[in-house]
Amino acid sequence: MLDERVLSVLARLEEQDRSEPEAGLPAAERARQVEPTTGRFLFALAASQAGVEVLEIGGSRGYSSIWLAAGARILGGRVVSLEQDPVKCQAWRTNVSDAGLEEWAEVVEGDAFETLRATEDVFDLVFLDAEKDDYEELFALIRRLLEPGALVVADNVTSHAETLAAYSRARQSDPTVVSVTVPLDRGLEVTAVVGDVPAA
Ligand SMILES: C[S@@+](CC[C@H](N)C(=O)[O-])C[C@H]1O[C@@H](n2cnc3c(N)ncnc32)[C@H](O)[C@@H]1O
Repeated sequence: MLDERVLSVLARLEEQDRSEPEAGLPAAERARQVEPTTGRFLFALAASQAGVEVLEIGGSRGYSSIWLAAGARILGGRVVSLEQDPVKCQAWRTNVSDAGLEEWAEVVEGDAFETLRATEDVFDLVFLDAEKDDYEELFALIRRLLEPGALVVADNVTSHAETLAAYSRARQSDPTVVSVTVPLDRGLEVTAVVGDVPAA
């Protein structure tokens, strides 16, 4: 549910996100969060599946995690968010708690590459929003955790097309998935898994 607690934290983070570039904060310290419309899209995907297990790569201060967790809460799902910056992780915990969503979301602090290599958990929905140069390698790491029916949403595929057009092409030519570029905000590559992991 999008209750008052959730909406007020989202509004506060949107205001912060607007003011940070003007304040001259370096990119690495900014939230770099998704647009509200992308947040709503993520909410809709998470809300539509009972017991959805969501993985987010690049949690920042929790803006997209809150949209995902508010969606997952409806039918008893949960969100695991990976974030390497300890300062952002601390803000993430505060924001998710302020939104009343700590029961449905947790942040795992550390390098996503290491976290993913160490997990065998299976996920239904993955939101990929880390450094753009890393998407291909991160996708390869998560692929073994995805079964037919899983969905991967990758952000920035049109805003960073010079880096990510190859990511979209690779997904769209893989016979074990069905993938489409959705021209919402910064561009989302939405990839449905339809077959088993290709043999190495
Ligand atoms: C674009 S921001 C994510 C914004 C967030 N999804 C939102 O909408 O609120 C990218 C985040 O990914 C994190 N990140 C980048 N590479 C990472 C890695 N290898 N492991 C964990 N986090 C990483 C960065 O610290 C940064 O906070």
